[in-house]
Amino acid sequence: MKIFLDTANLDELRKGASWGIVDGVTTNPSLIAKEGKPIEEQVRAICDIVDGDISAEVVATEFKAMVEEGRKLSKIHKNIIVKLPLIRDGVQACKALESEGIRTNVTLCFQAGQALLTAKAGAYIISPFVGRIDDMGYEGMTLIQDIVQIYKNYGFKTQILAASLRTTNHVIAAAKAGAHIGTLPFKTLDGLFNHPLTDKGLEQFLKDHAKAFGNK
Ligand code: G3P
Repeated sequence: MKIFLDTANLDELRKGASWGIVDGVTTNPSLIAKEGKPIEEQVRAICDIVDGDISAEVVATEFKAMVEEGRKLSKIHKNIIVKLPLIRDGVQACKALESEGIRTNVTLCFQAGQALLTAKAGAYIISPFVGRIDDMGYEGMTLIQDIVQIYKNYGFKTQILAASLRTTNHVIAAAKAGAHIGTLPFKTLDGLFNHPLTDKGLEQFLKDHAKAFGNK
């Protein structure tokens, strides 16, 4: 499973990229707004840090405007993936942009039927949100499993990007379900490294080594 960082924060991206395990970045209008810079500027800076797919989302909600905004975003850098909300005009814009060779990520997917429509429109990526379904009291991971099954049944090439992953368990379950990509906030990625037995084991190794050989 590819790992993307779900942030527009440059410090988090630099840190994550330095570990050598970040394959791409997802942003959305809320994450861009948090950083306070216009999307073109922020996304260009992100492209300089991470060499991989970088999703930049349109804020237009009407077909023609979405296509125009998508074209503009795609010109920022060759790695830009145009992110579109999963509404009727968004799916229509996905079809139009993909037919021009502009790759799209269709976002805000909450049920498998929406993912079927998105694949039929030829999207490069579909983004189902796990955590926000959990928030409603349902099992978000079922959505990933259902989409994996449906895309497999018909050989759809659209990549499944598990979004709104907030815990280590979310990440493991998305990988087990067969998501192609998981996008993680920095905190979730950082947490994936941790296990108390790793720390305890390392402490003991170093102690034993120092006892036998000193601190050299
Ligand atoms: O970027 C979309 C998604 O990953 C947001 O996650 O935690 O705000 O539901 P969350």
